[in-house]
Amino acid sequence: MTDGLAPGPDGEPRCWWAVSAPEYVRYHDEEWGRPVRDDRGLFERLCLEAFQSGLSWLTILRKREAFRAAFAGFDPAAVAEFGEHDVARLMADAGIVRNRAKVEAAIGNARAAEAMRADGESLSELIWSFAPRRHEPPRTRADVPAVTPESTALANELKRRGFRFVGPTTAYALMQACGLVDDHLAGCAARELGRPRFRRLAPADGTATARELLAAVRPAARAPADRPFVFANFVATLDGRAAVAGRTTALGSEADLEMLLELRGLADAVLIGTGTLRAEGYGRLMRSEERRAHRSSAGLAPDPPAVVIARGLDVPWEAGLFAAPEQPVLVYTGSQGKAPAVAAPVEVVRLEDPAPAAVLADLRRRSVRSLLCEGGPRLLGALLASGLVDELFLTLAPLLTGEHAAPRLVEGRELPELERARLGWVLRAGDELFLRYAL
Ligand SMILES: NC(=O)c1ccc[n+]([C@@H]2O[C@H](COP(=O)([O-])OP(=O)(O)OC[C@H]3O[C@@H](n4cnc5c(N)ncnc54)[C@H](OP(=O)(O)O)[C@@H]3O)[C@@H](O)[C@H]2O)c1
Repeated sequence: MTDGLAPGPDGEPRCWWAVSAPEYVRYHDEEWGRPVRDDRGLFERLCLEAFQSGLSWLTILRKREAFRAAFAGFDPAAVAEFGEHDVARLMADAGIVRNRAKVEAAIGNARAAEAMRADGESLSELIWSFAPRRHEPPRTRADVPAVTPESTALANELKRRGFRFVGPTTAYALMQACGLVDDHLAGCAARELGRPRFRRLAPADGTATARELLAAVRPAARAPADRPFVFANFVATLDGRAAVAGRTTALGSEADLEMLLELRGLADAVLIGTGTLRAEGYGRLMRSEERRAHRSSAGLAPDPPAVVIARGLDVPWEAGLFAAPEQPVLVYTGSQGKAPAVAAPVEVVRLEDPAPAAVLADLRRRSVRSLLCEGGPRLLGALLASGLVDELFLTLAPLLTGEHAAPRLVEGRELPELERARLGWVLRAGDELFLRYAL
């Protein structure tokens, strides 16, 4: 086992610090590094991390229920009202850590959190705004920092707002605990355990990760001779919207993103519409080393090329997709125009008429056997209308945006192809439903 990994009670590798007590194993597997996004949850972690300083985390874990009872379930509004008699009560409570400075800091921090709420701000939004954009899994103990520029900035901002006992080290512990960074070592079993799980509703059959569910899809093996196997990912609200305020980001949850990233993991290439690029920008398609390694082990290129069809070469070249030197892009166009120099390796392919069928035939000649379509309604609509989609992975977000009464994609009124589609599975994660259609 590499430096920093140790076998847990089931023999699976875990972060070195997690295996010495059953409480640690449970906390490590089920909580540490998982996103906490609600104000109450974050306030609880903030207080407990502050109480921990100078003590072992195991001490805090063992006292956690007593802390919750003593601190009104860490409801910031309730704790903000605590007065002298509460301080006396807490100092007499052997179930918690009786340190007057820390007890008073917890009450002061509740008041600071309440002051934010009164100003229309949220503790969660503030804390999450310090999450780094990129965070690679640490490979050894030495790769796990104690302090980072982001944690120092977060500590300073909290201090400025009157929070106490949250220095840069405690702030980093909070970022790790609440999933702003995922510091489970590469190879730790919790990385797998931490993935969203999907409940299989139809056919009903327990829960599974997206990777487990998609293992049987094998799109490349099902490619016809003259074009790639085409599978599409799409998310829609219950009232049939494909975007909110011009973007899809507000629609899907973490489970939706996980499904999308795992679908990307299966594709020889990924088709993206120019409208989507304009709205979402994109970046490198495979976001983590773990997913790149998984692709390599399946015999795929670590970074799938992105495919863009821009009939008039009206491409948003400033989009993030073109800024990553590791991300190859193929641009199909009927235009004689030239592409500007960008960081990504771009190949412009000229076809007299870059209609979807001609593009797919060219991709197949280039050995692309599986193509994931992530286009918006226009590109996906064009592919569906040409009968070029083999499978559709549709996420239904429970959001009702109020513009349409009927779930159009499900009823198939706007996309009549779906009336003939065969429903493969219905999954549920959180409030979202995941439908798989064979077309
Ligand atoms: N809900 C979701 O899952 C999802 C997914 C992606 C995007 N979106 C959202 O959808 C919106 C963008 O949608 P969109 O429909 O405008 O973008 P899109 O489908 O991604 O791109 C449309 C563009 O693709 C090009 N294209 C190439 N061949 C085409 C063909 N045969 N038929 C139609 N277009 C073709 C066209 O550009 P040329 O005229 O230059 O050829 C067209 O303007 C954004 O708000 C985005 O956030 C939602």
